[in-house]
Amino acid sequence: MTLFIVGGAGYIGSHMVKLAHLAGHEVITLDNLSTGHRDAVLYGAFEYCDIQDANRLNELFKKYTPDAVMHFSAYSLVGESMSDPYKYYNNNTVGTLNLLKAMIDNDCKNFIFSSTAAVFGNPEYIPIDEKHPKAPINPYGKSKLMIEQMLEDFDTAYGLKYVVFRYFNAAGHDESGKLTERHDPETHLLPLIMQTVRGEREAISIYGNDYDTKDGTCVRDYIHVNDLSRVHLQGVEYLMGGDADSKVYNLGNGEGFSVKEIIEKVKEITGKEFKVIEDDRRAGDPATLIASSQRAKKELGFAPEVDKIDDIIKTLT
Ligand code: UFG
Repeated sequence: MTLFIVGGAGYIGSHMVKLAHLAGHEVITLDNLSTGHRDAVLYGAFEYCDIQDANRLNELFKKYTPDAVMHFSAYSLVGESMSDPYKYYNNNTVGTLNLLKAMIDNDCKNFIFSSTAAVFGNPEYIPIDEKHPKAPINPYGKSKLMIEQMLEDFDTAYGLKYVVFRYFNAAGHDESGKLTERHDPETHLLPLIMQTVRGEREAISIYGNDYDTKDGTCVRDYIHVNDLSRVHLQGVEYLMGGDADSKVYNLGNGEGFSVKEIIEKVKEITGKEFKVIEDDRRAGDPATLIASSQRAKKELGFAPEVDKIDDIIKTLT
């Protein structure tokens, strides 16, 4: 298959490029390098492209005639989306609309979309399955939910078929160490803890210790980035199998770890002590997010390989 991997220079996209290439697909990365890194694209062609640029998208669809598009290109920081919502609606929502238009215009009708647990907001029950009400509490989650809603209409009207994957907390990196998480600024918990372990930061802050959770700190469900990438391939194979209905899947490991637990685990695994500061809550953070991935397991054969939190953390060391 010929696959467009939009955002293939980013953290999750670059892992996807590698896996899809190793599975024998022709991969073409489209990226504007606003947050991604050219040297993270280890395989296939690279095409500079901003998804806001309709002419460029059309040119690339005509050049490669891809069978399917995998879309990873989004801003994904909850906190930043609270202070700069325009950036999120413009890139994530408007940019994706533009990409979908180019797909329809060029008769490419298979789409894999990176969505997020942030579409649910504060959970009404745990674990969160696909039927859980969608009530995002930050512009990031809203920007992604709007795309999910657009996709339903694009399926009905234009026959665009899609698989939406809602990730919980992507973590870890590939064994070569070449595809690390390199956000600038970094805001994610695990990479920040690892920077503290390496002495690149003075301390790690815990954002809020008064949540209604086991120890007062936020609980998240961490999933290894290679497990995420593998299930995307299963998704695209499902779509290309013919007569496929559009689908939505939640992806996590079904187990929640608090910020304090993660910090303790890293100390244990690395054998390093570091400074921890109890700080204020960060705006837009739900207390607990834990996935039910039963549907993906049953329907796609999702079978995570690095499913223990200790093993996920070990890939970072
Ligand atoms: N946290 C800290 N200190 C830090 C950084 C984070 O205490 O220095 C806390 C956060 O407040 C949160 C938890 O650690 O409670 C995890 O935070 P991350 O920033 O690592 O991840 P998020 O849960 O905010 O967001 C991630 C993705 C989103 C996705 C979400 C779904 O970035 O795209 O998971 O769970 F929507």
